[in-house]
Amino acid sequence: LENGSLSIVVLGASGDLAKKKTFPALFHLYRQGFLPPDEVGIFGYARTKISNDELRTRLHGYLIKDKDASPEQLDVVSKFLNLIKYVSGSYDSEDGFLLLDKEISEHESLKNSAEGSSRRLFYFALPPSVYPSVSKMIKTCCVNKSDLGGWTRIVVEKPFGKDLQSAEQLSTQIGELFDEPQIYRIDHYLGKELVQNMLVLRFANRLFLPLWNRDNIANVQIVFREDFGTDGRGGYFDQYGIIRDIIQNHLLQVFCLVAMEKPVSLKPEHIRDEKVKVLQSVLPINYDEVVLGQYEGYRDDPTVPDNSNTPTFASVILRVHNERWEGVPFIIKAGKALGARKADIRVQFKDVPGDIFKCQNQGRNEFVIRLQPQEAMYMKLTVKQPGLEMSTVQSELDLSYIQRYQGVTIPEAYERLILDTIRGDQQHFVRRDELKASWEIFTPLLHRIDKGEFKSIPYKPGSRGPAEADELLEKAGYVQTHGY
Ligand code: BG6
Repeated sequence: LENGSLSIVVLGASGDLAKKKTFPALFHLYRQGFLPPDEVGIFGYARTKISNDELRTRLHGYLIKDKDASPEQLDVVSKFLNLIKYVSGSYDSEDGFLLLDKEISEHESLKNSAEGSSRRLFYFALPPSVYPSVSKMIKTCCVNKSDLGGWTRIVVEKPFGKDLQSAEQLSTQIGELFDEPQIYRIDHYLGKELVQNMLVLRFANRLFLPLWNRDNIANVQIVFREDFGTDGRGGYFDQYGIIRDIIQNHLLQVFCLVAMEKPVSLKPEHIRDEKVKVLQSVLPINYDEVVLGQYEGYRDDPTVPDNSNTPTFASVILRVHNERWEGVPFIIKAGKALGARKADIRVQFKDVPGDIFKCQNQGRNEFVIRLQPQEAMYMKLTVKQPGLEMSTVQSELDLSYIQRYQGVTIPEAYERLILDTIRGDQQHFVRRDELKASWEIFTPLLHRIDKGEFKSIPYKPGSRGPAEADELLEKAGYVQTHGY
């Protein structure tokens, strides 16, 4: 980290995201020494009129579970909480932001030595409707004004727009105020350990280089499942649906890393160039290759309209029109209120030509990357059944992180990504053209759904989703394997 003061402002400080994700991530960074107290000031900003102490009390329980905390741990928590100052104000008038600027400037004058620069990070834990006005207020009242250098950066969360047009409009509004290197569009899936591992896996292993293509791979699945519904978030969710909530951002980012070509180098621009290219190579979605679902009971939420058709489940096949992937279906699936909480990537290889073991009905080679829970990678292989007989069985080469990396704590996605924003590394953030390309893929389908031209099929909570999704998978050529 550079020298000089660092001011981190959490906008929307009293909201859910801030309490559950942003502040805990900052706390973990602080605890590990990444936010030195002689540089850092943390500011919470929101409309709610509460005192510093009230905010601190509210946050306490999210930072540490009291019952297992030692006095030393509690001491670290209170030191961290003491770094936080709360400023209340509206999102569209200057008064609050001028006050915020005053607080930040005071902090800077206390912390900066003669050669210190001023770094200001603004984290938008806010509804996107206020992004334009908040960006404007920051630009007008709160940017770094130090002659000694430093920077101003903003971190924006999804949902970033509702379709291509609204996303582009938002990008333009913010783009008029801040330059692209100042804008960090966060997608927390890019902070997950096994998502970050994807490029290493693909491009640092000779084994995969010749196999990762249409000659060898039959199909790829990227699947997200949750075993709970939209509990308490129905009002938000109903406006968006599962495609905007999970697929257009989180799963599409994972898709990019699985399908993109090798970047020229690890420079953020090189990586993002390749992600854009593969997104642009995706063919228009064929509506026969889409299944939408809605779990029974979703509409019981009083904030959800009785006749809502919003999908809480979707399975969509993406087809990539390039030399590597022509003909290989990428089945992207996400669902709420299913039987398990699990996210994984499944790469299924083709059958062995000229099979002499007649073992093919036992299943194909499949490489599975489990993003969560319990990070793991395993490769399904056919081996000889141990014993006197010459028979075959399917088994796994298994790399479970919990066993292989005992004692290693896997950082939280948000923790890692916030550190990147302080370090100025945009590799794991979504660039404007990438965002645009991802909306281009889904906007026509979303518009059809919004017009009610695509019906969500009801499914039972705790199930696998609509049976039609399994049929789609089978039609795409997926062969059920045994084992895991
Ligand atoms: C969020 C979605 O972006 O991701 C939620 O809005 C979802 O609906 C969450 O539950 C899933 O994140 P994770 O890290 O728990 O898989």
